[in-house]
Amino acid sequence: MQKSPAPRANWATRFGFILAAAGSAIGLGNIWKFPYIAGQHGGGAFVLVYLACITLVGIPIMMAELAIGRQGQRDAVGSFVALEGPGSPWCLVGWGSVIAAFILLSFYAVVAGWSFDYLLKAASGGLRNRSPGEIEALFDQLVASPGRVIFWQALFLTANVAIVLGGIRTGIERWSKILMPALFALLLLLFIQGMRSDGGGQALAFLFRPDFSRLTPRALLDALGHAFFTLSLGAGVMITYASYLEPEADIRALSLRIAVLDTVVALVAALTIFSVAFSANLEAGAGPGLVFKTLPILLLRLPFGSLLALLFFLLLAFAALSSSISMLEVVVAYLIDEKGWSRRLATILVGFAVFLLGLPSALSFSLWQDVRPFFGHTFFEAFDALVSSWLLPLAGLFVALYVGWFWGSKRPNKTLPGGSLQGGLSAGWQLLLRFVAPAAVILILLNQLGLLPSG
Ligand code: TRP
Repeated sequence: MQKSPAPRANWATRFGFILAAAGSAIGLGNIWKFPYIAGQHGGGAFVLVYLACITLVGIPIMMAELAIGRQGQRDAVGSFVALEGPGSPWCLVGWGSVIAAFILLSFYAVVAGWSFDYLLKAASGGLRNRSPGEIEALFDQLVASPGRVIFWQALFLTANVAIVLGGIRTGIERWSKILMPALFALLLLLFIQGMRSDGGGQALAFLFRPDFSRLTPRALLDALGHAFFTLSLGAGVMITYASYLEPEADIRALSLRIAVLDTVVALVAALTIFSVAFSANLEAGAGPGLVFKTLPILLLRLPFGSLLALLFFLLLAFAALSSSISMLEVVVAYLIDEKGWSRRLATILVGFAVFLLGLPSALSFSLWQDVRPFFGHTFFEAFDALVSSWLLPLAGLFVALYVGWFWGSKRPNKTLPGGSLQGGLSAGWQLLLRFVAPAAVILILLNQLGLLPSG
């Protein structure tokens, strides 16, 4: 190919990169999912296991993804091509990641759309003067209304397209610099309100006083799987975002910062939600309905309740948006770098394709709730399982194996991930990446195949 290389986009600042990558990591997984799984598994002990999974498995794999992108300087597929040549089987890992990001965005946008609907409800006073039963019913009514769900899904994707159209600096980075500080401020405000309520002390004890009798093998596997999801691993996000970094970037320091931000937000969100739940004498293990059904009821009982509900759903929408733009960027970057498309064409077409692919998921709670072509699962459940349980862990496993074993052995001390091109991973991280992380992911996969006794 004789194309003269166009100057490649890059981040304006290191800080901008951290906010964008943390924005990807901090999403529905932190605000919606972490609190409810931590609640279901009894709090403290689960939190410890989760922290161990982030440190021992998540951070090493994040470093590996960042190393691939920083070195490859291309999208998730192209970086493998750049490093290993076009015919290499490792390119399949890149492919799997791009497909994972594409499918993930299709149903993530549906759930994110729900948060838009609640935002409107909260802003228009639609939550006020309702009994708890009525508020709970609102959620069931929403997901059962195909037109409304699709409208919000489309609107959410339009916002994504609008941001990603702007490119790296003026799109993703600029918006991350707006969304993330706003998100931190909103969370802090809600957190303070939560801690001042009667349930504050109880929430702290629940989350930080481990009760190891509650720890089950299931909890361990959930912690592992969630560590993966919450750090946005296995879908090419970190590869793609790191490809806009300069080759000197210190990925060890960067990955630690991203992981710390993500973890702090998850813990603070959980504390906030539990404090509100405990102040109403509610169980912490309320499950997936916690955020959409239970939480609005609880927030509305507090002083300035309507305002708090509004702020909470704004928080949820911001978190979802800063995550979903990273998924869109993975696919868009692939089309730009590998197929030579313009950003404009790639973004608009992918946005539309994702919308179409998401329709079956949007309808999975209404018109198509009885369409269950996949082992009795709806489209939504099947897409979620395919991506979260298979594609992401598999891609992560091969990323770990690639950087841990293959890459380093071929180019000793030149391209190992570290502060500089010369600096390698310290022996400790190397050990985690080579043995601990792959073993852990294989454990997740075996469990899913039903090959582990815990089921
Ligand atoms: N980490 C995000 C969350 O917690 C979700 C997410 C964004 C993601 N990009 C991803 C998950 C890529 C896996 C892969 O909600």
